[in-house]
Amino acid sequence: MKITVIGAGNVGATCANVCAEKELAEEIVLLDIKEGFAEGKALDMWQTAPINMYDSRITGVTNDYTATKDSDVVVITSGLPRKPGMSRDDLIATNAGIVKSVTENIIKHSPDAIIIVVSNPLDVMTYCAYKTSGLDSRKVFGMAGILDTARYKAFLATELNVSPKDIQAVLMGGHGDTMVPLPRYTTVGGIPVTELIDEDRLNAIIERTKFGGGEIVKLLGTSAWYAPGAAAAQMVEAVVRNQRRVFPVCSWLQGEYGLKDIYVGVPVVLGKNGIEKIVELKLNEQEKELLYASAAAVKEMMDVLDNMN
Ligand code: NAI
Ligand code: 2OP
Repeated sequence: MKITVIGAGNVGATCANVCAEKELAEEIVLLDIKEGFAEGKALDMWQTAPINMYDSRITGVTNDYTATKDSDVVVITSGLPRKPGMSRDDLIATNAGIVKSVTENIIKHSPDAIIIVVSNPLDVMTYCAYKTSGLDSRKVFGMAGILDTARYKAFLATELNVSPKDIQAVLMGGHGDTMVPLPRYTTVGGIPVTELIDEDRLNAIIERTKFGGGEIVKLLGTSAWYAPGAAAAQMVEAVVRNQRRVFPVCSWLQGEYGLKDIYVGVPVVLGKNGIEKIVELKLNEQEKELLYASAAAVKEMMDVLDNMN
């Protein structure tokens, strides 16, 4: 197996490091446009191998796509992160240019790769990579739902003082403030969360989740990386180990949930072919309304991208 991570910044480096520690491939290539940056990060990571006891060989390159040849999975994290006061959508023009050129280069050297997009605005950048790649939509998808759900689960674990391992949840929609956490599908050790927490507290946690990315931007002056990097690596793992994990993933919908020609987060089965199956939940009217509002916000941004082209 060979994994390439494009962008050796905060998220890309973290993702590559987690992939290496989990020994997800014999070869992991980190690529960045900044001279020497990926080489330096990869060298530092490789020097943790004798300490953390792994064999995955990490190398770094400056914009040399020949080194990425025949990758099985490519994670795209290149692009600008948010600064305080910026929304994810403010990044659209700059990051679309980056994602488009990166995808063209990936496809030239790894025409069969599975592509996982992380760059923001996530749903639109995934659409950009899909259109540029010409790949089957099952092989091009985006990471957001695992991160957003992890934030929701982490807040619940703190509130209830229980292990985050015991919290199961699903969250749908776009990666933005309109995302749709679903309390009806949230359980703690199999117990519906609504039996353990009152409605006001749960609603406060849902609101905090929606703005979870912004909370970290305010604290750090840039966006998060530990959880995003780990979330992207978890998707890589599901693919390279053919785990058939059920995750919320930004996926191309063709009529599922009544939505067509749109990238938006829905639960899927993730395995060696990428998206093996889109899982259709029986949403109630209120949940549908929230999902459609979120989809409409994503569609507006997709139209901005189409008009730029
Ligand atoms: P960063 O600034 O630390 O790293 C980005 C890296 O991309 C830089 O090292 C830069 O040199 C590189 N880069 C820029 N243009 C490139 C090109 N054409 N080819 C190769 N490399 C290039 O940013 P960070 O924090 O790692 O975030 C990366 C992206 O991921 C941002 O767009 C951010 O908004 C997004 N993000 C998405 C999340 C999600 O849930 N989907 C979560 C967190 C971040
Ligand atoms: C996050 O949710 C900004 O998308 C980034 O942390």
